[in-house]
Amino acid sequence: MRLTIVAATGGIGRHLVEQAVAGGHDVTAVARRPSDLPDGVRTVAVDLTRPDMPTLTAAVRGADAVLSALGPRNPRADAGITSHGTRAIVAAMQAERVRRIIIVSAAPVGPVPVPGRPTPPRHDPGDGFLMRHLGVRLTHAMFGRHYADLAVTEQTLRDSGLDWTVSRPPKLTDKPLTGTYRTAWNRNIRGGFSVPRADVAHHMLAMVNEPETVEQVVGIAT
Ligand SMILES: NC(=O)c1ccc[n+]([C@@H]2O[C@H](COP(=O)([O-])OP(=O)(O)OC[C@H]3O[C@@H](n4cnc5c(N)ncnc54)[C@H](OP(=O)(O)O)[C@@H]3O)[C@@H](O)[C@H]2O)c1
Repeated sequence: MRLTIVAATGGIGRHLVEQAVAGGHDVTAVARRPSDLPDGVRTVAVDLTRPDMPTLTAAVRGADAVLSALGPRNPRADAGITSHGTRAIVAAMQAERVRRIIIVSAAPVGPVPVPGRPTPPRHDPGDGFLMRHLGVRLTHAMFGRHYADLAVTEQTLRDSGLDWTVSRPPKLTDKPLTGTYRTAWNRNIRGGFSVPRADVAHHMLAMVNEPETVEQVVGIAT
């Protein structure tokens, strides 16, 4: 398949590229500073703060799917890039009639209201007592602005008319790929507090060929 991978130099992005190449896919890697990417990968430089739309549009042209692990390098200082960049990616895909997109959000985003979804559930149905009453408060105190931006990002996909899927992992680790993780639709994983970046990438690639995941938010955890 032809895959366009956005944020290809990030933690999850590098795993996406590596696993997609190993799987024999034709990969276009989009990054603001493409470097150290595997041989055979087409690289496209785009800074999504001020995206050059003709370049971004060319990067998604002819793709069977776009996978994005875009996010702020410092979520406490740079919140905003995920929604801003995702809007540009969606516009590029709409212009090129590319339909399939899979992005990374985060487990604590479910209860965050946005204009298109003003009354989300008060708690994620997958979160247990500790996570509802302690974990969510702590993580929102630290990363609330970023989660608000991810909620806007998710809404952008819901409103896009594209074939979207959102992956919502909990804490990411750099442990090696296991290929054995739990997933659930529209809820977090009970007792699932972390997941390797490599496994998130693995699952995103698997979902490209799972039409039942279209228009779904999917929780993932070890
Ligand atoms: N950290 C966690 O425990 C955790 C938990 C749950 C969910 N998440 C979500 O998962 C996302 C991905 O995680 P990760 O570990 O792969 O993140 P990461 O390593 O920080 O990667 C973020 C990627 O976004 C790119 N990026 C940032 N600003 C950009 C811009 N203006 N233009 C183009 N590219 C830009 C970065 O490019 P550069 O390589 O050039 O910097 C990098 O490739 C996070 O952003 C977060 O929303 C994280």
